[in-house]
Amino acid sequence: MNGNSIGKALVLTCFGESHGKCVGAVIDGCPAGLPLKEEDVQIELNKRRPGLTAVSTPRREEDRVEIISGVYKGYTTGAPICMIVKNRDVDSTPYRVVSIKPRPGHADYTARVKYGGYNDPRGGGRFSGRITVAYVMAGAIAKKILGLLGIEVLAHTVQIGNVKVEGDVPYESIRGNVYSNPVRCAVPEVAEKMIKEILEASREGDSVGGVVEAIALNVPAGLGEPIFDSLDSDIAKMLFNIPAVRGVEFGAGFKIASMRGSEANDPYAIRDGKIVTLTNNAGGILGGISNGMPILVRAAFKPTPSISKRQKTVNLETMSEDYIEFSGRHDPCIVPRAVPVAESCLAFVLADHAIRAGFIPRIIKNA
Ligand SMILES: Cc1cc2nc3c(=O)[nH]c(=O)nc-3n(C[C@H](O)[C@H](O)[C@H](O)COP(=O)(O)O)c2cc1C
Repeated sequence: MNGNSIGKALVLTCFGESHGKCVGAVIDGCPAGLPLKEEDVQIELNKRRPGLTAVSTPRREEDRVEIISGVYKGYTTGAPICMIVKNRDVDSTPYRVVSIKPRPGHADYTARVKYGGYNDPRGGGRFSGRITVAYVMAGAIAKKILGLLGIEVLAHTVQIGNVKVEGDVPYESIRGNVYSNPVRCAVPEVAEKMIKEILEASREGDSVGGVVEAIALNVPAGLGEPIFDSLDSDIAKMLFNIPAVRGVEFGAGFKIASMRGSEANDPYAIRDGKIVTLTNNAGGILGGISNGMPILVRAAFKPTPSISKRQKTVNLETMSEDYIEFSGRHDPCIVPRAVPVAESCLAFVLADHAIRAGFIPRIIKNA
């Protein structure tokens, strides 16, 4: 069965291939009367574009968004919003080999099995990080919807290879610093070390992984639809749809397994007449429902699979064992470019649930 759409009230359908004519999104279920300009989406897409630095792919894409439908006189109409970004800087030459000699760690082999060899292998086709343009487009709209409730979504890099940000980072530093360095880290001294980590791997024809943290502030208690559309399961599903995500954790994450109940439980308190918890090991979600505390989620990314280092693979034509040294243009680390993507994913799920829970009307304001 197909799996190119996600969401219940706000539905994202993602289309396009890395080296096809365009990549794009159809977003259905956006309330009518939301002010929306191409510029609103462009600002978000610019955060995902590769920088002109050695820590990202040399592929140069302008990523200029075109809104094709669903917006009239600067407002959403309630009809599906179709947006595209044309692919321009395309070099498919290195990909001839991958249908025959699949890259270890990439989707070349599994896609070939699944689609009988008809899938577009150029640039990874549907399995390229480029499809996340659609997630960011959806995130741009979601953020505007969440803005109506005063919800803010942030994201930052907290680990690259073995370099980690230790302790909590003030929200102010995330807002101010993330886009001032190429690794999207909120702590400038750590950012320097992360850059070195990437360059070192890259010089050896290798790659590194890492962790992105996404945070949502001012989320009201009550979002989430237990049992099977619980807020944490929907957020986790959306994040696992980002290519190269290998793990998702909330709040204290996997560390909670080694805590005692007395340490793991977040004690309740009342502050300014509001129910809060004194710690946030739950990451803002209990029983699949938001509890009013910040939503805190981290996604672990594997190292970029395409590397120029020689690796063992198989030749599917001759059915013999072989080697591959892949020479395409690649991000030596996916993490920096995934920061706005993770932020968009969290925003999208929250907007979908805010509409489902009735926090957002179907018409924002009558014309
Ligand atoms: C923003 C972004 C950029 C990516 N860039 C690359 C890349 O340059 N080269 C590569 O091999 N994989 C890249 N990936 C990862 C692959 O798309 C992914 O590993 C592949 O589809 C296999 O899927 P899986 O890792 O989820 O199993 C990128 C992923 C994202 C989110």
